Amino acid sequence: METLHELLLRRHSIRRYEDKPISADDVTTILQAALLAPSSKSVRPWQFVVVDDKEVLARLAECKANGNRPIAACSLAVVVCATPEKTDMHIEDMSIAAAYMQLQATALGLGACWIQVRNRFTADGQDAEDVVRELLGIPHDYIVECIVTIGHPNEERRPVDPEKLLWEKVHLQKWTAEE
Ligand SMILES: Cc1cc2nc3c(=O)[nH]c(=O)nc-3n(C[C@H](O)[C@H](O)[C@H](O)COP(=O)(O)O)c2cc1C
Repeated sequence: METLHELLLRRHSIRRYEDKPISADDVTTILQAALLAPSSKSVRPWQFVVVDDKEVLARLAECKANGNRPIAACSLAVVVCATPEKTDMHIEDMSIAAAYMQLQATALGLGACWIQVRNRFTADGQDAEDVVRELLGIPHDYIVECIVTIGHPNEERRPVDPEKLLWEKVHLQKWTAEE
């Protein structure tokens, strides 16, 4: 069985997918991963909108000008949103849930990618969050952090070589300046 370490080395953003649905069991497992994510004070401020309708995915993809292609190509998109009313840690909470879903999808042999929505814009300057909220009926007081796109991989990515990790980012006992 694959260890967590092996999974972390193997996980990559996968942006190309086969035109093939994801099994209901896998969808459930991925959503369980989101719902299992820890949140500050266990407030769980997030909501997840699950989309597999190809027409809606194509329209969702228009929410931003760049880095949006996986949305139209994927079999399943999970829109991650949360209300800041319940906590000031909503961004962190949403981010952890999104990362959990990506890891779970990878563990299932699927591919996933984080598509940023917050602070992103359409080609003509419209706020991507407004586009997504309007399309999916998400209340206006909800922040839309990202869309996790998921599908059967149609590209190969090599696991990370642990020898190439950036150990210069790690400071022991106190900060050491990079040379
Ligand atoms: C906060 C965040 C925002 C991202 N936004 C996008 C995006 O909008 N579109 C995209 O194709 N990839 C996006 N990515 C994926 C990154 O480009 C990717 O994680 C990075 O290049 C490292 O590659 P890896 O995931 O294969 O290790 C995002 C990742 C993170 C963590």
